[in-house]
Amino acid sequence: MAAYDFETHEYDVVVVGAGGSGLRATLGMAEQGLRTACVTKVFPTRSHTVAAQGGIAASLGNMGPDNWQWHMYDTVKGSDWLGDTDAMEYLAREAPKAVYELEHYGVPFSRTEEGRIYQRPFGGHTTEFGEGPPVQRTCAAADRTGHAMLHTLYGQSLKNNAEFFIEYFAIDLVMSEDGACQGVVCWNLDNGTMHAFNAKMTVLATGGYGRAYFSATSAHTCTGDGGGMAARAGLPLQDMEFVQFHPTGIYGSGCLITEGARGEGGYLTNSEGERFMERYAPTYKDLASRDVVSRCMTMEIREGRGVGAEGDHIHLHLNHLPPETLAERLPGISESARIFAGVEVTREPIPVLPTVHYNMGGIPTNYWGEALNPVEWNPDAVVPGLMAVGEAGCASVHGANRLGSNSLIDLVVFGRAAAIRAGQVVKADEPNPDLNIASVDRAFDRFDGLRNASGEVPTADLRLEMQKTMQSDAAVFRTNRTLDEGCKRMKTIAGKMDDLSVTDRSLVWNSDLMETLELANLMPNAITTVVSAEARRESRGAHAHEDYPDRDDTNWRRHTLAWVDGHATVRLDYRPVHTDPLTPLEEGGIDPGRIAPKARVY
Ligand code: FUM
Repeated sequence: MAAYDFETHEYDVVVVGAGGSGLRATLGMAEQGLRTACVTKVFPTRSHTVAAQGGIAASLGNMGPDNWQWHMYDTVKGSDWLGDTDAMEYLAREAPKAVYELEHYGVPFSRTEEGRIYQRPFGGHTTEFGEGPPVQRTCAAADRTGHAMLHTLYGQSLKNNAEFFIEYFAIDLVMSEDGACQGVVCWNLDNGTMHAFNAKMTVLATGGYGRAYFSATSAHTCTGDGGGMAARAGLPLQDMEFVQFHPTGIYGSGCLITEGARGEGGYLTNSEGERFMERYAPTYKDLASRDVVSRCMTMEIREGRGVGAEGDHIHLHLNHLPPETLAERLPGISESARIFAGVEVTREPIPVLPTVHYNMGGIPTNYWGEALNPVEWNPDAVVPGLMAVGEAGCASVHGANRLGSNSLIDLVVFGRAAAIRAGQVVKADEPNPDLNIASVDRAFDRFDGLRNASGEVPTADLRLEMQKTMQSDAAVFRTNRTLDEGCKRMKTIAGKMDDLSVTDRSLVWNSDLMETLELANLMPNAITTVVSAEARRESRGAHAHEDYPDRDDTNWRRHTLAWVDGHATVRLDYRPVHTDPLTPLEEGGIDPGRIAPKARVY
């Protein structure tokens, strides 16, 4: 007998999360006539995509020559050759279509004089397979692109009769005895009622887990809920060691200053007033890829050339740009700099610091968004009934490092792909299989255990301990010592999940309990990050290991898989990277020689 009474809802598809990927998937499913529910713990237009500023990458070629092959090459190089080649081709090829669809749905993009979608330069996006000048590939709605996308996609989803369950917290997946996903169990935060969504397809679009770290550009809601649910269902998480630091979080608050600021001509300086990126990346300078810029900033600070009283940050200059450019193209960050750094960007530089921004790792999927549960005889085995898209998933299109503005395009390309695939595999005219009540019961029992937790450790204290450990031991630069310590400390911290104290037992807007459920999701994401990082004996993309400074393609061009047992035990295995493009050369595909691994210099 379940610990709680619950209401059952039957749909063809349930999407968990209403950010860019969740809404694009929801819209695509609903457009095809699938009965679609979207459950979300925050109001859709408050999802973290709303904070995406600079734009969405697609080779429209509105500002100069561009094509999907150049975009694909940049993505492959950006990923430091860890991305899956088929997925990266799919992303680059489908990107223009996905952006034009957004335009037709109503996204209010900024415009060129001729009325075309405005595009700006972003780090790592180039021409001529990395041999030419930077390209203007990032389509922008001023510096509020994510905001514009969310509002449009939400409106279109409603128009297509998708049903929204807002302020519903997803507790756990419902899994059949033979490992298929049957839906999700949820708690209605607003009135305390419990719900089981029975669906032929469940799509996890729950975003990243930036809040496993102390300082992040991510919203406080970015707690890796999808990864937590997948891990508890016995599924692996992939490439969790790759955590992206954005070069320009505002010093102190961590608030994002878009890379679009450097795209529009901004530059970084050290305490000597030197534009130091010219030394490290002579060709692309401040527009080198993010992992590279973040490392260079960290090295400047370490070597005593940081700015400020404590020499612990860097300056970003926009004060040389015309005030009209700032007002038209970067109004949002001008306001953020004023509020969070007390800086008037027309006159003074912004104090910035590399800040946790994005998780390349997540639930492994193919390029249709279908979740994978690799087995010995099939590294690409699909979990029936389960998909993951956006930052929650790992397609793997970003490999070891994501290029700026490849996130928004990932959201819509793969949200859309998931909908296309669901249209093929979900049989709308067949009845839903009965829910596995044993799985529903387990979800409610876990929920009830946390609700009544009467141990010694308050949720906020344990969360802070985890965040500080991740910040110091799984940082921009890593060593054997920090990673070894990080593993030991995280094991102890995760073990304390059994000693939590929750003081509010109510069911209506119980934020104590909600934050505890979120911590239970953050924890498997955090511990798999540090354990996967400890095991990877090379440097690649965002994983900069000082004891192994070189990339090692012979031994490490492979994806890490991490399973969590209980709270604190992690088991690792590996799966091969997909190295073949989707389309053969003779059918118009990219020349494989173009994307063969080589040294990554900018
Ligand atoms: O800098 C930015 O606007 C962030 C973009 C991204 O992460 O893709």
